[in-house]
Formats: sequence, C-alpha cells, structure tokens
Amino acid sequence: MKLEGKVAIVTGGARGNGFAAARLMAEEGADIAIADICEDMSTIPYHMSTPETMDKAVDEIKKLGRKAIGIKCDVRKASDVEAMVKQVLETFGKVDILINNAGNSSMEAIADMDEQTWDEVLDTHLKGTFLCCRYVLPHMIEQESGQVVSISSVGGQRGFGMGGHYCAAKHGIIGLNKSVAMEVADHNIRANVVCPGTVWTDMMKGIAESFGMEEEEAKENFFAGHLIKDPELTPEDIGRAVLWLVSDDARCITGNMITVDAGWTSRAP
Ligand SMILES: NC(=O)c1ccc[n+]([C@@H]2O[C@H](COP(=O)([O-])OP(=O)(O)OC[C@H]3O[C@@H](n4cnc5c(N)ncnc54)[C@H](O)[C@@H]3O)[C@@H](O)[C@H]2O)c1
Repeated sequence: MKLEGKVAIVTGGARGNGFAAARLMAEEGADIAIADICEDMSTIPYHMSTPETMDKAVDEIKKLGRKAIGIKCDVRKASDVEAMVKQVLETFGKVDILINNAGNSSMEAIADMDEQTWDEVLDTHLKGTFLCCRYVLPHMIEQESGQVVSISSVGGQRGFGMGGHYCAAKHGIIGLNKSVAMEVADHNIRANVVCPGTVWTDMMKGIAESFGMEEEEAKENFFAGHLIKDPELTPEDIGRAVLWLVSDDARCITGNMITVDAGWTSRAP
C-alpha cells in the first residue's frame, strides 16, 4: 500500500471529487479527516453537503478498515480551520497530507455581481486554501515531511463567462501553490495542483438546475470541450491524480499541476 500509516485531511471531502480522493487514499492505507461546511451558503444556488452526507462518507472510509473522522469546518474562517487542524492532531497525532478541495460556485456576470457573491466563492477556494496551508504547514515543517494537493480547475487556466469569481480563485490557487512549493521544498514537503475538466458532481448538477437545464442539455453544454467524451470524466479520475501526486511515485514533482480534463485545454480556440 502506498500510503500506509499516513494521515490525510480532505476539505470538502463529504462528497464528489473530494470524497473520491479520500476513498482512494484510504484504500492505499491512509487514515482520513474529512472537513466540510455541511451547511448551505447564501449566494450558492444549490445545497452544500449535510452532516448526514459527511457521516456516510466517514462510514464508507471506516468500512475500508481505516480510521476516519468528520469535522464541520468552514474553510473561509480561520477559527474553524485552526480548530479543525487541532482536532486532527489530537485524534491522529500528525498530518501528512492536505487536500484543498472545498469548493462551490454560482454563475453571474461580473457586471451584475454583488460583493457577497464574489466573496463566498473567492473565500472558499482561495482564502480557504491559504488558511488550510497556514495551519497545516507548520506541523509538516516540524515533522520535515508532507504533501499538499490543491484542486484548481480548467477555469484556473481559461476564462468562463459568468464564472469570473470562480476563474479568479482557481487561477489564484495555481499561483499560491507555486509559492507554497518554493517555501517548503527544503522541508521535504511537496505542493501540487490538480485541474479537473467537467465532472458531473453535485456542484455541476446544482449549477445546471439553477439555469433550468435538464441533465442531457447540461451535459451537452458543460462537456462540450472534452475531447474524450466516453468514458465520462468521473470523481475517481480526479482522485487517482491526487493519489499519484501524494505518493512517492511523484517524488520529484512539486510546484506543478496535472490537468485531468479529457483533453479540453488542448483544443484550439
Ligand atoms: N465538478 C466539476 O466539474 C469540477 C471541475 C473543476 C474543479 N472542480 C473542483 O473540485 C472541487 C470539488 O467539487 P465537486 O465538483 O466535488 O463539488 P461538490 O459540491 O460535490 O463538493 C464540494 C464539497 O465542498 C464543500 N464545501 C463547499 N464550501 C465549503 C466551505 N466553505 N468549507 C468547507 N467545505 C465546503 C461542500 O459541502 C461539498 O461537500 C471544488 O474545488 C471544485 O471547484 C470541480
């Protein structure tokens, strides 16, 4: 097993891409702390995970024979993140892997966007990634080892109309990651990014519903950029890239990113 004895925090890990990464890491031996808001947000037009979603995710990890805990944590808040990291350290004694995955989006043109809509997305993705690094890295530096993977998007490499806040945050994560990688490389800590294309998770289902789109129409639109349409990109495809990056197979890769987008970003405009 590639992650035997390791402890991983996965933010937004109660479902979707985050849960797939958590499950795959658990299959390779890691104990898992899922940190999720489990509460709706005012400008996000679909539901976040619930405490029940998180309990189910924790149970599924435990069924694999690993230890797992679920912690209610809003990654936008320093006090929540600090308390979450403290609880993980009290429970498991260390943190080896941090997956900055918590995310959400609304769809609105910049010309119409209010401050709260901007803040809820920027603060979740970008400030949340900063805060989790801020509170986890000191422990990794002390133990002279660690892995950080932050989830960006093809929206971190391209613009999306109606997604200026999301793209700004996802571009920001790629820049932040390069600086983090430089700051911690001497402590045997690697930091990388995964950029997914479209994955049919609750986030995409929720956004489609907010536009009144049926699944078929939504998929036609959202998957249009993919060169590979069959098989469809899944949370497990994203999770496998995360797993590879945190394993020793990627031991000389840092400050970098893997784009798991079924070929989307290779398309000519
Ligand atoms: N699905 C896609 O097409 C796609 C594409 C590119 C990138 N991504 C990224 O993948 C990541 C996971 O998204 P997903 O598609 O699995 O969506 P999802 O909605 O299924 O999962 C996101 C999880 O994050 C949690 N969350 C949201 N805001 C939070 C906060 N402030 N604090 C803590 N937890 C919070 C939610 O409760 C939920 O459990 C996100 O960063 C997203 O931007 C997704």
